Amino acid sequence: MSVLSVLMLLFLGSTNPTRAARLLEVLYEWKDVEFTFSSQSARDVLIKTRAYIPGNSYPLDVDSWQQGTGEDQVFVTIPRFSPGVPATLTTVVRSEEGRQLLSPYPDWSWHREGSCDGITSVFRIQVDQCGRLWVLDSGVVNIFSQRKRICQPQVLVFNLKNKKLLLRYRIPDSVLRDHSILATIVADILDANGKCRESFAYIADVTGFGLIVVDAHREKSWRVVSNYFFPYPLNGHFDINNAQFDLMDGVLGLGLSPPQNDKKKDKTLYFHSLASVRESWVSTAVLRNESNFQDNVNAVPQEFYVSQGTRPSQSAPSAMDGEGAALFFNVLSKNSLNCWNPRLPYNENNIVELDRDDVKFQFASGLKVIRDRSGKEWVWALTSRFQNLMVNNVNHDEVNYRILRAPVAELVKGTSCAARTSASYVSVTQNAPKPGYTPIVFA
Ligand SMILES: *[C@@H]1O[C@H](CO)[C@@H](O)[C@H](O)[C@H]1NC(C)=O
Repeated sequence: MSVLSVLMLLFLGSTNPTRAARLLEVLYEWKDVEFTFSSQSARDVLIKTRAYIPGNSYPLDVDSWQQGTGEDQVFVTIPRFSPGVPATLTTVVRSEEGRQLLSPYPDWSWHREGSCDGITSVFRIQVDQCGRLWVLDSGVVNIFSQRKRICQPQVLVFNLKNKKLLLRYRIPDSVLRDHSILATIVADILDANGKCRESFAYIADVTGFGLIVVDAHREKSWRVVSNYFFPYPLNGHFDINNAQFDLMDGVLGLGLSPPQNDKKKDKTLYFHSLASVRESWVSTAVLRNESNFQDNVNAVPQEFYVSQGTRPSQSAPSAMDGEGAALFFNVLSKNSLNCWNPRLPYNENNIVELDRDDVKFQFASGLKVIRDRSGKEWVWALTSRFQNLMVNNVNHDEVNYRILRAPVAELVKGTSCAARTSASYVSVTQNAPKPGYTPIVFA
């Protein structure tokens, strides 16, 4: 290649909208994951009984907790999409030979399929600021073959310091639908500086098209329905790195804002359906008030908002920074990490592409903003090439799963998502389009 063409490439590169390329650093990668069995013979027994089928474990979500030592304890979830998943919630550990293995959390005894006092099938998790791990157990196995709910869905909360179970809340049938799959959880801690008692969880029912609010302290839950939890028919077709499929999945990505200035407890929950290109939001004050949904779960449509503008394609998970200036999400067709500052209208002008990698950033299925002990925030992502799983075309000879990380400040530097100097958090409802299920009128 000539010097000139190299210069041309550099020049073209600089006009690329990806402004902060290569900030995402790969921490771990796997072609297939392997587990920490107590011995080779224990592994052989599980293979013989088909409790373990190598190659059938597809990681989906990640979170991390910094221990007192400053070392990250990294959690990885593996839903039971197919038979032969030996553990559905794990941590990454290093073997003596230097391999990165997955170790069941809290231990093997929790992962016997069919034991409803254990953990059955986890899509997503969240570590909260009180040193606790929130585990959303869907209770559903064989999602890709003969999908079956074998245990009641539940929320489990563990104390990360000693692995002790703090709460097991089984989600009652009254707030479920027959075909519910509970896929995403965000924890909302109302008294984080106090006792960490007032805690809620918002749970996305991706196939039941609803949200479940769990009041963890009072051990109660209720169901919330909004039109915006449904898939959007025109966005049900996916074309990702040459894998094409149709999937009418509803609400999936949840991102929680920091407390708003006026009322310390109230936050904004941003959400979107997988089959959609719009962003929606609702105040947690609306969600937490059970009486809003008692008589008619669809009683307060005017409290739910949807963007008029759209993103370039569908997006899976999302997460917000601690300032409320950057909602992070992926754009699936572009293999990109993006952000949006909710002070601005949601549209292509204000959706910033932060990084893109056609190899390493294929289908982020887990996304978190994690604050380390020094107070620095990081975006963490787990990319799973989920599109290949959807078309039954996983190539076990290439790297399929990666855990990546990038510092928030460097990612958003110089973009509209870096509004850290801005005086106050502006409630998103102030510049939102007209609320309620009103049709969008085109001029
Ligand atoms: C909760 O919702 C009900 C009915 O929608 C309303 O009357 C009441 O004022 C709300 N409570 C609070 C504390 O906002």
